[in-house]
Amino acid sequence: MPRPEPKGGEPKAGRDPKDRLIVALDVETLGQAENLLDRLGDVVTTFKVGIQLFTSAGPQAVELVQKKGGRVFLDLKYHDIPSTVAGAVREAARLGVFMLTVHASGGLAMLEAGVLARGVLGKAAPILLAVTLLTSLDRAALQRELNVPLSVEGQALHLAQLANGAGLDGCVASPREARLLRNALGQHWVIVTPGVRPAGAERGDQARIASPEAAVGAGADYIVVGRPILEARDPARAAAAIVEAIARS
Ligand code: C5P
Repeated sequence: MPRPEPKGGEPKAGRDPKDRLIVALDVETLGQAENLLDRLGDVVTTFKVGIQLFTSAGPQAVELVQKKGGRVFLDLKYHDIPSTVAGAVREAARLGVFMLTVHASGGLAMLEAGVLARGVLGKAAPILLAVTLLTSLDRAALQRELNVPLSVEGQALHLAQLANGAGLDGCVASPREARLLRNALGQHWVIVTPGVRPAGAERGDQARIASPEAAVGAGADYIVVGRPILEARDPARAAAAIVEAIARS
């Protein structure tokens, strides 16, 4: 049974299209991040700090986004024994991040430990998302390398259901899996989709892509976009066009 409300973060109803675009700050330095934040600050409210920027700049990257008035999606994809993941999630909650990720394949005990730990601050608990399957894995890799006999969609659904049972709020999914997950897990399950490309944008190394309209239409609550905005001649204009596409969807 889907839960009545996500326990972390904001309620879904009445959400501004502007708050549904997450820009991936996939850059090397704090200086580059600051430049982007200054250019995008009027158009974008939420920024993803991933393993590259966090490895180079640490919690200062989170604090920089917050100082500029933004919300942070901390995408470090924790995957370790339950007590270690609990410690990391607690520290992320103390940093005041808006949402963060753990790997569903860490198992039920690890996921439950994460859910307990993110409540360290009570009401301001961040949205806790599961990474189900990396979108870079295809069926052949799943079966031959990881020895998982299911389809990509079947395994993603299995892991999302495990995360739901553990009390997480939602998951990261490719646009291709979003509808299946939305139908299976209900309206309150939070779905965040990367692999989004506006018409005419380079696909880069993303194999399974969709337009912002298609991702939202398939059930995404939030879409993550990196290179199409970061590499645009006018990043603010590229971001604004995506927000408009979300609003139209
Ligand atoms: O540049 P691009 O729009 O492809 O960036 C997508 C972002 O989403 C990257 O930061 C990438 O790490 C992240 N991501 C992804 N696929 C996942 C999970 C996260 O592309 N399954």
